Amino acid sequence: MKFTSLVPLTFLALTGASPCSQGPSDSTVTITPEQIIAIAPKSESCDGAVDFVSECGTAEQAAPAVSEAFTKYGLTNKAEQAAVLGLMAMESGEFRYNKNHWPEPGTVGKGTRNMQSVDFNKLYAASILEIADEFAKVQDQPGPVLDLLLQDPVLDYGSGAWFLTTQCNETVRSGLQNNGEEGWKAFITGCVVTEADEARRGYWSSAVTALGA
Ligand SMILES: *[C@@H]1O[C@H](CO)[C@@H](O)[C@H](O)[C@H]1NC(C)=O
Repeated sequence: MKFTSLVPLTFLALTGASPCSQGPSDSTVTITPEQIIAIAPKSESCDGAVDFVSECGTAEQAAPAVSEAFTKYGLTNKAEQAAVLGLMAMESGEFRYNKNHWPEPGTVGKGTRNMQSVDFNKLYAASILEIADEFAKVQDQPGPVLDLLLQDPVLDYGSGAWFLTTQCNETVRSGLQNNGEEGWKAFITGCVVTEADEARRGYWSSAVTALGA
């Protein structure tokens, strides 16, 4: 009789959620496939993928996963979203990869769409209650920890939002929100700790335009 009781419960949950509001609340983030394609044009299709083809993600796959992750981490500010999406597009080769391969043979356990280091992936995986039991069994094995994160697209595409919201401080975040390119540079050089070069700046700039940030 589980099924019959589930229906009215679901109905109540849906109707009870929004008696005074229209549609999703302000904290629900929606990133569209069109926005993803504007940032990472290759993600329109995986037809042209030639290597590590099974890792390739399309904008159709990325958009709902990114949206759910941004919502989950409360990443509602468009300038912050643009910084995260630009970084992911750059790091994942426009969503073609979620494991590190270069320089060859790549670093085992480095990956997700944010192409995070082994240490960050361990921290990230440890923070997710849904995979706690599986994580406990493999926590000192970088490859299996990454595989665990890649099983769920929301975790795979959510690493960038996790990173910004848990590993960068308020100064970096308010800089992103308020200081345009200077704020972006401080995020890349101070928190991501890599070079704010032209290629990276290009993805960020496309993301700012695509999101209207
Ligand atoms: C915030 O992080 C940045 C980048 O790591 C660092 O330069 C800055 O000193 C930090 N600010 C505070 C208040 O901790």
